Amino acid sequence: MMNRLFVLLSAIALVACHTRKEERVIGLITDSAMVVSAHPLASKVGADIMRKGGNAVDAAIATQFALAVVYPSAGNIGGGGFMILRKNDKTLDALDYREKAPASSHPNMYLGETGEIVSGLSQDGHLACGVPGTIAGLAAAYEKYGTLPWPELIQPAIDLALNGFRLTQKEAAGLNYIQEDLARYNTILPSFLLRDLWKAGDQIVLTDLGHTLERIRDEGANGFYGGKTADDIVAEMRRSNGIITLEDLKNYNAVWRKPIVGEYKEFRVISMSPPSSGGLALIQLLKSVEPYPVKAWGHNTVRTAHLMTEAERRAYADRAFYLGDPDFTPVPVEKLVHDLYLKQRMSDFNPAKATLSQNINEGVLQTEESEQTTHLSVVDPQGNSVSVTTTLNGGYGSRVVVAGSGFLLNNEMDDFSSKPGAPNMYGAVGGEANKIMPNKRMLSSMTPTIVEKEGKLFMILGTPGGTSIITSVFQTILNVVEHTMTMQEAVSAKRFHSQWLPDSVSTEKGAFSAEDSMVLVKMGHAFKLRSGLGRVDAILVLPDGKLEGGADPRGDDTAEGF
Ligand code: DON
Repeated sequence: MMNRLFVLLSAIALVACHTRKEERVIGLITDSAMVVSAHPLASKVGADIMRKGGNAVDAAIATQFALAVVYPSAGNIGGGGFMILRKNDKTLDALDYREKAPASSHPNMYLGETGEIVSGLSQDGHLACGVPGTIAGLAAAYEKYGTLPWPELIQPAIDLALNGFRLTQKEAAGLNYIQEDLARYNTILPSFLLRDLWKAGDQIVLTDLGHTLERIRDEGANGFYGGKTADDIVAEMRRSNGIITLEDLKNYNAVWRKPIVGEYKEFRVISMSPPSSGGLALIQLLKSVEPYPVKAWGHNTVRTAHLMTEAERRAYADRAFYLGDPDFTPVPVEKLVHDLYLKQRMSDFNPAKATLSQNINEGVLQTEESEQTTHLSVVDPQGNSVSVTTTLNGGYGSRVVVAGSGFLLNNEMDDFSSKPGAPNMYGAVGGEANKIMPNKRMLSSMTPTIVEKEGKLFMILGTPGGTSIITSVFQTILNVVEHTMTMQEAVSAKRFHSQWLPDSVSTEKGAFSAEDSMVLVKMGHAFKLRSGLGRVDAILVLPDGKLEGGADPRGDDTAEGF
């Protein structure tokens, strides 16, 4: 009887597995061009730019401008970001337009008289703002790679701001959530953002922002870093405890850097170098798990999750110790991704037991959220590709709206280590390498990434999520290359994340079966439930050359193309 029951249950399970295999979830398929971003209106703007003959960089710029209007929680002109590019001739590039610490900042600026962190000071209000980099970045990208006239890339965003657009349910909820903070941190109230209750479908018009974008359209980066916009930013700073000056704005520069490139099996992973920790940690993670049979072990099983978590512990311990702005602190990039170093790093990996994070330090080298950031992935008909992650840091950044210019400023200063060992808003700790210094860039986890397979363009991806950005990108790559998921399945799949400290594994509901969770707990892993980890927006080049979009169902994210 038991036997028959067992056979029956196995058969049902097999059928269930089988059915699941057949019902593959496939994202939007297009012939040659695609944008995947956090908002349908922004994806449409980017795709339309390519319909007019613009290339992937033109589309990425226009999409970012549109996101700055329709997705105010993270799309921005008051923040910063990183862009990874791969041209169809295989040349690579990386643009750093990360915010910088204002010139008068100093290592102890968020500490009180007793040397303790003053809660919230690096996260809310005017003192939390880094010097914005987005407009310098978009202008630099345009100057090097843009093809359509600059005004054509901004006009769709201006039209959305001045004519208005309808809020999605998620954006209405976000605005409702920050109403009190908007009143608290702004002496001139941003009335256009204030309402008793925002609802899905409400029309919102952003007149001041529209005019700021017109100044950027007409004067380029100077429309932001000089003239009325710069004056408005500085006046806004003076209304409270802000320290950004006209000089800071004038001196801001975006920097072209060498992307970080690493191999994983037959794939080449191209991602952001410091001052982001993203690319480096991603390559560390992939290389650390490469020797293990991840495919045979399966997706989100005990063995795979344990291996990935243990690799993550080690990579994030290195992040906390070694990584910072390379213009200020030498970062031993080559050594940290060296095969031998990573082999030695994983040499105490115990397949049966979790290591306590307190027993993990940074490696010894040979001689050495609120969910609001946003990612977009673009491929154009010529096969050029762009991967961009941009952020205000927390949702709606510092909650400070520049009066007269109508945009939100970032709270990126919290990504510095305000005090050695003290966690920031993502629980990340850091030390000397990431301490605050004038004009320095704060360490990031943003991981805009492009993957090649056998020399050909294969995948473009990235996500928000603070420190969990790196692990979400890591999992999405493994989901496709090891677990043979479609792009959409890989993006939708439940995720988990660990980062050395705090010593726990954050998981989305349903990431592991109840049984596997119990086994992992017995092995020494502590779990913390998170409502959502990241919003990955990705594009996969299919064997026939068509494109499959993976738009994250956790948000309003949308793929659009032709
Ligand atoms: O640069 C970083 O790593 C962070 N400022 C990113 C913040 C973020 O992803 C927020 N979204 N969840």
